[in-house]
Amino acid sequence: MNNPDLNLAPESRTPATPAAPAPLYLRRSGTALLLDFRTSEPALLHFGADLGPELPDLSLLTDPVPHSALDVPVTLGLVPQASSGWRGRPGLRGHRGGTAFSPRLRLVSVEADPGDAASAVLTQADPDAGITVRTELRLNDGGLLQLRHTLVNDGGSPYTVEELAAVLPVGRAAAEVLDLTGRWCRESHPQRLPLHQGTWVRSGRHGRTGHDASLLLAAGTPGFGYRHGQVWAVHLGWSGNHESFVDTTGDGRTVIGASELLGSSEVTLAPGESYETPWLFAAYSDAGLDGITAAFYAWFRARPQHPTAVKPRPVVLNVWEAVYFDHRLPALLDLAATAAALGVERYVLDDGWFRGRRNDTAGLGDWYVDEDLWPDGLTPLIDAVTGHGMEFGLWVEPEMVNEDSDLARAHPDWIAGPVTGGAAGAAAGPASAGRLPERWRHQQVLDLVNPEAWQYIYDRLDALLSGNRISYLKWDQNRDLTEMGHDGRPSVHAQTRAVYRLLDALREAHPDVEIESCSSGGARVDLGILERTDRVWGSDCNDALERQTIQRWTGMVVPPELVGSHIGPTRSHTTARTHDLSFRAVTAIFGHFGLEWDIRHLESAERDELAGAIALFKEYRGLLHSGRMVRADEPDPALRLHGVVAHDGGEALFALVSVATSFAEIPGRVCLPGLDPDTRYRVEAVYPAATDRGAYLQTAPPGWLAGGVEATGRFLAGSGLPMPVLNPEHGVLLSVRRAGGGAPHSGTPVRNS
Ligand code: GLA
Repeated sequence: MNNPDLNLAPESRTPATPAAPAPLYLRRSGTALLLDFRTSEPALLHFGADLGPELPDLSLLTDPVPHSALDVPVTLGLVPQASSGWRGRPGLRGHRGGTAFSPRLRLVSVEADPGDAASAVLTQADPDAGITVRTELRLNDGGLLQLRHTLVNDGGSPYTVEELAAVLPVGRAAAEVLDLTGRWCRESHPQRLPLHQGTWVRSGRHGRTGHDASLLLAAGTPGFGYRHGQVWAVHLGWSGNHESFVDTTGDGRTVIGASELLGSSEVTLAPGESYETPWLFAAYSDAGLDGITAAFYAWFRARPQHPTAVKPRPVVLNVWEAVYFDHRLPALLDLAATAAALGVERYVLDDGWFRGRRNDTAGLGDWYVDEDLWPDGLTPLIDAVTGHGMEFGLWVEPEMVNEDSDLARAHPDWIAGPVTGGAAGAAAGPASAGRLPERWRHQQVLDLVNPEAWQYIYDRLDALLSGNRISYLKWDQNRDLTEMGHDGRPSVHAQTRAVYRLLDALREAHPDVEIESCSSGGARVDLGILERTDRVWGSDCNDALERQTIQRWTGMVVPPELVGSHIGPTRSHTTARTHDLSFRAVTAIFGHFGLEWDIRHLESAERDELAGAIALFKEYRGLLHSGRMVRADEPDPALRLHGVVAHDGGEALFALVSVATSFAEIPGRVCLPGLDPDTRYRVEAVYPAATDRGAYLQTAPPGWLAGGVEATGRFLAGSGLPMPVLNPEHGVLLSVRRAGGGAPHSGTPVRNS
């Protein structure tokens, strides 16, 4: 079915007319979106479960009109507005010098293709206010919905956009809200609250996505879990200021949505100009959060440029926690040789290589290889790294500048701040063209809205990439954009777009270079940045215990192949906790695996174990980076079980992890969900060995641990297996493979002895 452009006149709010286009009904992978046009405004009737191929006569489903209320039923519009009686959070706030404050958008056209593409473009206009809003909708295979608006100023004077939100209805059954929060070294931790009347808003005013960003905002049925309950969830693909919210109005309706959080007059459109919102990504699941995750993963993995579509994710060594700023060639060469011998495939030189950068107080902005430290440039190191068969990666932080840098001395006006020039500028001293924000890690933000500053950074990065064999950039961003301004006006929006343009331009010029988005760890994890980067650094915390939570919840949205996850030093540099190698490896393996540790002086047993863990990752990365993520609703708060199951149900890798001491003497039978019920599997504990005295505290292991066991998926999900008694802060990897068939995997896993 393909509705032509109907070119409806934006006329009065009339009830059903013969001219009203047919409802828009998009269906994919168990999820459906239904919009109705009878009130000449696109009305959001349903987002959630697939309602089947046949719909009732929608004209009979008009809402009642209650007492002491608007005289007509209230429409939840695609852009909810007061002109339709909506008294919740408005979808559009804007004005024309104070007037035209209450939009009355009405449908102009529908271009729908509910067939293969399951997409539509709807246009609404308010001729009196002089605005048009075009909405793009896509329901992707896997059930992930994308929605964004573009507002055009059709009037003859400037129009200021204060907010343009994307919202969707949530079913009445939703009773709880879940979102994520965090801080440096503790990103993506969940919090839950009951859903009451009112608005629950999560605001991000960091100028970047933020350590406390709610990667996912979900509403669901009481007690919804990983694998049960109905859930409606949204994510905004944006790396600047933003809000996500759940709004339950007095008439009993609930919507969930998000918007860019704009500064005052930050987006003021000249006649003919337009403002495009970030994409809202939304998913519905009737099988808990795992269903939401499946929708996001399917979307990521369908992209032609998805990294695993190019090649398997290489094992990384990042030298940061090995050497920090102490860049000495012999040590760096030694690390490269050791890493290569262990099986590492990508070597990343972190902060400290560029002019004047001996610590974090100076140098940002001077993107030239430091001549004193590197008299022959990076070539000797790059040659050694590539000679060992590894890729070479380099750390950069292009959006930032130290006041102690040649760049800041030459161009003080390229530093972004709230006030430009004038008296305040003069008072701020010679290093500044205006009042500067407070420093953060001794640094300021470069004003990339300034085309000259943007071009300088582009040229420096382009020169580095053109002049060296660099396969990978770790692109860092280490501060909030506080008081961010360009020409005395707020500029987080424009800066975010400028950063996106920079990444896009560099990717176009260097399509084979992978880019990681790091932001003091995980302060810029969102689908806006991930549209133009190849992985995120989930956290600066390499403590495996913290990582269990950070990765579990980052992984709600972002698949493991895009989440950097390294084995850190035995004693964590950010928490001072000590963990056995097995726990660090069992944790890191469920991500884009790597090392961030001085591996030069390991004892031989530890070296062998590390080499085994690397081989194990290589053996399973194909599965881990393509399969369905499964997280059990584990009743013991001391235990967590997660795994990845191949889409054909043929194999899986699970991790049972003990995060604390349990109330129970033994874990009992732990169920392995998500397998094919009728397939017979062989289950083996592959790491650590059954004899590992650090990992287990038991006089005798469960009967199957040493040699494995065969059972059906139905048995494993319904009754489960008795599990070994793990010491706290330890884990065990369980390999599950279709019994009696399938090619054995290559590699040398660490097996039970
Ligand atoms: C940030 C990153 C770290 C490291 C340092 C270097 O903190 O998150 O991984 O790269 O910068 O200064």
